[in-house]
Amino acid sequence: MSSTVRIPDGFVDELKARIRPSDVIGRKVKLTKKGKEWVGLSPFTAEKTPSFYVNDQKRIFKCFSSGMGGDVISFVMETERLSFMEAVEKLAEEAGMELPRADPRAAEAYDHRKRLQEVCEAAAAYFEERLQSSEGAGAREYLEGRGLKPAAWKRHRLGYAPDDWRKTSAHLKAEGFTQAEILEAGLTKESDRGGEPYDAFRGRLMFPIPDSRGGIIAFGGRALTPDAKPKYLNSGDTPLFHKSRVLYRYKAAREALGHGEGGGLIVCEGYMDAIALTEAGFGQAVAPLGTALTEEQISLLWRAGPEPVLCFDGDRAGLGAAYRAVDRALPHVEPGRSLFFVLLPDGMDPDDLIRERGPVAMGEALEARIPLSELLWLRERDAEPLDTPERQAGLEARLMQAAAQIKHPGVKAAYERDLKSRMRDHFWQLRQAKRQNGFTKGKPGGRGQGGAPAFGSQPGIQANKGGRQNPGVLLLMQAVMSPAILSGMEEILIAADFRNPMSNRLRDVIVDFLIEDEELSLQAVCDLLVREGHEHELSQIDMTRISRIRTDEPAYKSWKAAIEVFIPVDTAPSADDEVRRLKLKRRLVAERRKAHEERVLVDQQEKAMGKANIGDFWKQFEEKNPWFKQDGSNE
Ligand code: UTP
Ligand code: MN
Repeated sequence: MSSTVRIPDGFVDELKARIRPSDVIGRKVKLTKKGKEWVGLSPFTAEKTPSFYVNDQKRIFKCFSSGMGGDVISFVMETERLSFMEAVEKLAEEAGMELPRADPRAAEAYDHRKRLQEVCEAAAAYFEERLQSSEGAGAREYLEGRGLKPAAWKRHRLGYAPDDWRKTSAHLKAEGFTQAEILEAGLTKESDRGGEPYDAFRGRLMFPIPDSRGGIIAFGGRALTPDAKPKYLNSGDTPLFHKSRVLYRYKAAREALGHGEGGGLIVCEGYMDAIALTEAGFGQAVAPLGTALTEEQISLLWRAGPEPVLCFDGDRAGLGAAYRAVDRALPHVEPGRSLFFVLLPDGMDPDDLIRERGPVAMGEALEARIPLSELLWLRERDAEPLDTPERQAGLEARLMQAAAQIKHPGVKAAYERDLKSRMRDHFWQLRQAKRQNGFTKGKPGGRGQGGAPAFGSQPGIQANKGGRQNPGVLLLMQAVMSPAILSGMEEILIAADFRNPMSNRLRDVIVDFLIEDEELSLQAVCDLLVREGHEHELSQIDMTRISRIRTDEPAYKSWKAAIEVFIPVDTAPSADDEVRRLKLKRRLVAERRKAHEERVLVDQQEKAMGKANIGDFWKQFEEKNPWFKQDGSNE
């Protein structure tokens, strides 16, 4: 059943009336009274002179250095990166206001959950205390051995579960919790033999798992000896805890990420990695709980920042996990909202890397992250050899199938272009490698990737010094080398007549690339011409005379002037040529309109994601995605 929290009219006003903004804001910002207002240093910028004002009468804050302002709810949303609902819930709790619930059964469920959370909290405190006791000596030694100091134990609330079948539950009962509550919170397990439930965590190092508001909802426990199985034991799903919807350290990481522009959380594979990253200065680290990243977890990541970095061990399993994350995320990427990937060197995890090579090396590894689109490309490129046309076509099919997963039209189109251009570049490189290896027509393909005869034998595009050059070809080839010069030149190109079939074909190929907004590259253009049977003419071109041209104003002007010579002024174009020009112009206009529409869509999307509306955006998002309700209302 649903216990979705609905905020009735008047509740928010009442909440704001009860809370004095300076009380809440004063905990984050040191405020001093100045007349009717409070003043302090902006929590949003690194200012030196205070320009941040809080007015308790008007119940607002205003930050002159960042331009931000609002009420106490928006302050909490901004500084703690909470949704509107989360901020209201948090403040309501503080103000002692009961959040209204839909029906009595929901109210009951809420109280029940609260009670289970109290069990977990009591257990966390007990485990912490046990870690300090004499029975925690082994666990303390273990932690020291892994380079963690007592201050870090405290920060992450690490603990020790006594090596005993009843001790933890006995303690919790003494604290006033019932057997049923302890069992439901996942701290004990039902006995097969009908006896009393026994403690689930015994003789383990304990990692409490907080929900997105910081309350403990579950535990992970690590064995202290290599032979104890399993290495990590996690709470099973409980009314509080669904491991597919939770990320370890989420709240703390979101706060550490703070109010930055862009960026995102760092996702690693395990508890110890998240802790090691945090201790090394990467406080925005989170981890899933021993399972592949779910779509819900990816949404949580995006909620904190647009471009999270997923960090995987540099082994086969790590790569497999990264590939799975690609598939999960792909349908949901949007303008400015994606994933980045890091595959760590030498099969190390972040904890290993930091300990062996230090935080700087970790920072470098994170810097070297690759975008989702690139990992997707690498995955498909390496899926099978590309040594037959069928397999090459297979690659294209796989790439386009992957791009088709993307729901956002603008991003989908951008992926299609990106992937196609990577593919063309790759096939070109394969052919180059082939040629350099003395490949001749008819010889069987070499090993794996390197041995792919692409589209039949190729003519060299090597130097043909002294050959007669058509000036039009030279101009066009120059443009291919420096495509930036071509922006806005479509019309001129369409109108030009080079009075030579090869040049005119080259012109059409270039116009085609421009209209399709595909990446223009020498090899892509040459490939096409070869496929169309222009090998011979192509081999006549003296490539040494074609070099990159500057794209500055004088170079642009002289290139444009040179190409304009080819626009017929005193002779009417032939009927065929007239038709050609008209067709191209129509396509050009159509493509431009399409591009414009995509841009408008992207703009709308970005506006929806904009800072000012972030609260509304999430409210709408939650309404559209009921599974995404915050903890406490996601049953
Ligand atoms: P790993 O086996 O990669 O270990 O588990 P690790 O994180 O490097 O741990 P240390 O360094 O040996 O202590 C990664 C994550 O997978 C889950 C845990 O969440 C762990 O943090 N896991 C692993 C389990 O749930 N059960 C296991 O038996 C092992
Ligand atoms: Mn490890």
